[in-house]
Amino acid sequence: MSRRVLGPPALLLLLTGCAGVQSALDPAADQAARIETIWTLMLWICGIMYLLVLAFLAAAIWKARRRLAGPPLAQGQKSDYEQPLLRALNGWVGLTVAGLLVLTIGSFFVDRQLALAEAGDALKIRITANQWWWKVEYEDPTPSRSIVTANELHLPVDRPARIELEAGDVIHSFWVPNLGGKQDLIPGRTNRLTLTPRRIGQFRGQCAEFCGLQHANMALDVTVESPQAFAAWAEHQRQPAPPPTDPRLVHGRDVFIGATCANCHQIGGEAAFGETGPNLTHLASRPSLAAGARPYSRGALAGWIADPQSLKPGNHMPYVATTPDELNALVDYLDSLK
Ligand code: CUA
Repeated sequence: MSRRVLGPPALLLLLTGCAGVQSALDPAADQAARIETIWTLMLWICGIMYLLVLAFLAAAIWKARRRLAGPPLAQGQKSDYEQPLLRALNGWVGLTVAGLLVLTIGSFFVDRQLALAEAGDALKIRITANQWWWKVEYEDPTPSRSIVTANELHLPVDRPARIELEAGDVIHSFWVPNLGGKQDLIPGRTNRLTLTPRRIGQFRGQCAEFCGLQHANMALDVTVESPQAFAAWAEHQRQPAPPPTDPRLVHGRDVFIGATCANCHQIGGEAAFGETGPNLTHLASRPSLAAGARPYSRGALAGWIADPQSLKPGNHMPYVATTPDELNALVDYLDSLK
């Protein structure tokens, strides 16, 4: 993928320091590579045009100063510069039209390539955006083999993923810059996007359309991995949570079911069937908490449950009153859900 070692994109990366996990200039999928190509073309054409305008301006100032220094023109006398100026202007108009044509044709073909639906054994994923988290579902012809997770996306390398995008509340925008372009998620409508990752790694997605108070804390952890690693991850996700045996974890599980948590969240294998919030069956295996608001840790989880509104103000998770002992047991139990 890295065709240019130190082209303008790489220089810009160095300047902005945004290389790596969330950058449209470091493509790791076919779709992002196409967008980067048209981006580079636009940068070159617009950059050259800009430099030409500056050169033209400098020449005009220099010549005007020289003329002011010389004798004034007589009545009806034409300047020596008039003919060359006319030729330069004609050339400039031709150059502008040619530049715009190249950009229009280039973006037309990139757009067409991006809109192509990948045939074959594309992985089918449905992503539903909510305020402010992502529900991620991997569909399977056998319903019991489907997977539901939240705020994380695992993709096998070199296999196209056909993603259906929907929204539960307001309009959001799905964007993983290293993998592809933006696509809106609109309530009552299904949009589609294909991503074909070509490089193994960790990437970051982010909602790209203002959707309310916690728009900035609506991130998505994306893992591109080998087909074997993906199959192992998927198989693990299909397993329900093992029933706790340790008395402390049993207590935590009972707090979860007995308090209001189970009304909104689902834990496979337990009497928790809520659909309003993220599925928590494998919560502790995810890289981050509350859609990227904090890296996952037991401490962050405890803080999140103890006071959800201070970690992510405006989110829809209510405060649930617990005693310190109950909270500790609850956090121990959730932390065991790997
Ligand atoms: Cu969802 Cu911004």
